[in-house]
Amino acid sequence: MTLVDLSSESGEAHYRQVVAAAVERVVGSGQTILAEGVRGFEQGFAAWLGRGLSADHCLGVANGTEALELAMRCAGVQPGDGVIVPSFTAYATVAAILRIGANPLFVDVEPDRPVLCPREVERLLADSGNSARIRAVIAVHLYGEACDLRALRELCDRNALALIEDCAQATGTLYESDPIGTWGDFAAFSFYPTKNLAALGDGGMLVLGRRADPSLLAIARRMRLYGWDQQREAVQFGINSRLDEVQAWILSGKLSDLDERIQARRRIANHYRELLGSWASRMGIHLPKDGVNWSHSYHLFVIKVDPAKRQDILSRGAADGIPYAVHYPLACHQHAYIAKRPEAPQYHLPRTENLAASVVSLPLNPYLKEEDVMLISAHLRSILGDT
Ligand SMILES: Cc1ncc(COP(=O)(O)O)c(C=O)c1O
Repeated sequence: MTLVDLSSESGEAHYRQVVAAAVERVVGSGQTILAEGVRGFEQGFAAWLGRGLSADHCLGVANGTEALELAMRCAGVQPGDGVIVPSFTAYATVAAILRIGANPLFVDVEPDRPVLCPREVERLLADSGNSARIRAVIAVHLYGEACDLRALRELCDRNALALIEDCAQATGTLYESDPIGTWGDFAAFSFYPTKNLAALGDGGMLVLGRRADPSLLAIARRMRLYGWDQQREAVQFGINSRLDEVQAWILSGKLSDLDERIQARRRIANHYRELLGSWASRMGIHLPKDGVNWSHSYHLFVIKVDPAKRQDILSRGAADGIPYAVHYPLACHQHAYIAKRPEAPQYHLPRTENLAASVVSLPLNPYLKEEDVMLISAHLRSILGDT
């Protein structure tokens, strides 16, 4: 028996009501594509992000991967350009870079956290000198952990690089008290069904940061729809990346209590820490927590274990109905398609490779019950032992 269903929130009663209302509204209005629902969600999301953002900063798109692609295109990334990115991310981040024909330049993570290390970015910039056409840095807020945005912002400004935040896993993470996604020149969000703000299918948002040229939104909006102008004449490059009306209404409905669901994630994470904290420090296991100037949104609660024990945890979990998971067993530079690219160098990313071998995600969603957290914690301790 599975204790917790991590695949989506679609079984929740509240969620069902939001979905039913959205479908009813769209069927009733007959407005299925890029209408009031999408505009309302863009407005609502901008207001939720705060920091003076308005609907002029937000563009609903089909998914997070295309939000990243449009962000890079708005930043002027061209085929052949280099884009600095952590190798330890969801592969989607890299797929977006490749879609443009740009080259991912992989760097290692922080010594003690699974996010881009600014010192490694600096080192790569110094090593590549003036020869490489590096245009952008993608800061992936993996699992809901915030990157060191102050350091990355300063570094990008100093080197005339665009800073793009990949917030797909970090909706609701706070950085210096505000939701993440406004420090970069651009940010990309995903509303895939497992995400903190989840659609009933795909959805994404491109966000222009506070310092971006606001006229870029019109360019991005045309790019979302074939490059058409209002007379449906193609005047620039474009793709089809529409967010549909049903998803937009669902997302607006769920935005209204998103903060409560993030609080629930934080409560569950605290409970895990209470139950596992002293054991974990005796065992040398690192548990995720807030940083000094940011708060975790716990899209995932990921710990690092002895690589030799990981398969045992997964197998015993599967047998006992506890869905432990691994995000991700391969870093992006280890994927066959990347490794065989002719331009792929020999990467030396020891922290990244260590993470790929040792991370385990404990079940966490806003509906996880206290008794399940206790059961999972006891289960984990029984597998790894208590010294
Ligand atoms: C870090 C990261 N970036 C980008 C994406 C892409 O989002 P989507 O699946 O909506 O295209 C995801 C989602 O899987 C992700 O986790």
